[in-house]
Amino acid sequence: MNKKQFVTKSSLQPAPKVLVSCRDKDGKDNALAVGYCGNCSYDPPMVMVGIVPSRHSYQMVKDTKCFVVNLPTKDYQKEFDYLGSVSARDEDKLAKMNIKTADASKVNAPILVDCPVNIECTVVDSIMTGSHEMFIGKIENINADENIVNEDGSIDYSKLDLI
Ligand SMILES: Cc1cc2nc3c(=O)[nH]c(=O)nc-3n(C[C@H](O)[C@H](O)[C@H](O)COP(=O)(O)O)c2cc1C
Repeated sequence: MNKKQFVTKSSLQPAPKVLVSCRDKDGKDNALAVGYCGNCSYDPPMVMVGIVPSRHSYQMVKDTKCFVVNLPTKDYQKEFDYLGSVSARDEDKLAKMNIKTADASKVNAPILVDCPVNIECTVVDSIMTGSHEMFIGKIENINADENIVNEDGSIDYSKLDLI
């Protein structure tokens, strides 16, 4: 066997690329790029997102205990890169990029309207794994563009060119 043995970070690939949007306790909205995320229960449906405590969004999610996972498509790459490299501590990212938002239906956070799928979650638990705090989000509602929803209510991901 000719294998090198070592430990490295982010070893599961491809990693998902999502935008997590949130709102602070004063009503200010924000979003950040997240790669540490995944499905973590189907009954009840839940997802988890990992946020590093130094992110501006971290305290927002801690305070309001909810977030929205938005799935960006390739035509949203510029916005994704910006939201994943600039902090709301330094500027109002959503205003700067003219990002269209709307209130989520079931949680106190914004959805990013131009992402075709927006998953509204409430935080039911969290665990500090190391660098990230993994927030377990119970899915309260999903908003999806009408043209990608199958008759049985599932999402046709083959129609999406996700980042
Ligand atoms: C591809 C990509 C994946 C990222 N994944 C994460 C992640 O899983 N968790 C995290 O806290 N930050 C992640 N980041 C970094 C944040 O999105 C970035 O630090 C952002 O500017 C934080 O914004 P905020 O300070 O306004 O919350 C990622 C960035 C990129 C480009």
